[in-house]
Amino acid sequence: PEVITVGDLANRMAERGADVVKSLMRMGVMATITQTIDADTAELVVQELGHRPVRVAESDVEIGVMGNEDVAEDLVSRPPVVTVMGHVDHGKTSLLDALRKTDVAGREAGGITQHIGAYQVQLKSGSKITFIDTPGHAAFTEMRARGANVTDVVVLVVAADDGVMPQTIEAIRHAKAAGVPIIVAINKCDLPSAKPDRVRQELLQHELVVEGMGGDVLDVEVSAKAGINLDKLEEAILLQAEILELKANPRRTADGVVVEAKLDKGRGPVATVLVKRGTVKVGDIVVAGSEWGRVRALVNDRGINVPDAPPAMPVEVLGLGGVPLAGEEMVVVDSESRAREITEYRARKKREAESAKSGRGSLEQMFKQI
Ligand code: GTP
Ligand code: MG
Repeated sequence: PEVITVGDLANRMAERGADVVKSLMRMGVMATITQTIDADTAELVVQELGHRPVRVAESDVEIGVMGNEDVAEDLVSRPPVVTVMGHVDHGKTSLLDALRKTDVAGREAGGITQHIGAYQVQLKSGSKITFIDTPGHAAFTEMRARGANVTDVVVLVVAADDGVMPQTIEAIRHAKAAGVPIIVAINKCDLPSAKPDRVRQELLQHELVVEGMGGDVLDVEVSAKAGINLDKLEEAILLQAEILELKANPRRTADGVVVEAKLDKGRGPVATVLVKRGTVKVGDIVVAGSEWGRVRALVNDRGINVPDAPPAMPVEVLGLGGVPLAGEEMVVVDSESRAREITEYRARKKREAESAKSGRGSLEQMFKQI
């Protein structure tokens, strides 16, 4: 049984993905960062890299500890996490803004729009969709490089008056490399110059075949500006999510990914975290990258304090000792001493990497970096 991706395993050990791949190669196993390996192989790699492999039922957040799969009966459906990509000026931001306005929960609460890196929309049906609002493809690629593949679905925005452009092609490449399904939003269909059929034709040349042309890629003609077919786009996202059967165990030890982080004048370090598994609660001790802290407050995308955050919910986490990096993993740990142990270990690794890079490290450290 395949249980953990090479990237995830590397993250858990705070090792570089390339080192884990190399270690696997030495054992005769060819696997890339996104591929999964079984528990026995993972255990061997963990040992080889000098960590203590532990298989535990409840917590897998200790250094070098294997990821344990949640048993099927603990898994509950969770909202899909969507990233919007596309060429410059094709309307990504406009579309995200328009979709955000369809949120029924937000309207009821009358909350103010917070500009955080991720938000959740609740539809009339009660279904929720999480959107990651990290502009540019660089963020997507960087998160992937860190092994933090949080996107379930990519919405590819193509302006109907402009057609497929270089960054459209780049986005298709990224999504395909990550194995993430694409939904095409043909935008600006309110314009008289809109040629949605031409867009579909052009996409065909990049092996993106929409349903109407015999393929299985969902496409929706929308207008962010005029608010046309936003509900259809949301339906397509939910349909795709249904196919993916997205589930997570909300009761396990929580982990998530830092979408963005900053130092806020009044509030200190603030990390916007997308919870992947488990439920993060106020009072939890968390480690994010090389920072740790006790969660002082959790703030949702409408600026409201919440007691906890379940899977696929984006929240601002307050209480970290410093500012983590976007794409770094955040995990809940059981004690402050454990949090210190992990962050000190990571800090040491970072220093080693830096000194090796600057040529001041030992020969052995230098070899580790190759
Ligand atoms: P970058 O972030 O710069 O890559 O651009 P973007 O993809 O986020 O595009 P943005 O939402 O900023 O929109 C670019 C321009 O297109 C703006 O002037 C929008 O008003 C316009 N625009 C976006 N959506 C629509 C639409 O549906 N119809 C029309 N007519 N104009 C649109
Ligand atoms: Mg934009």
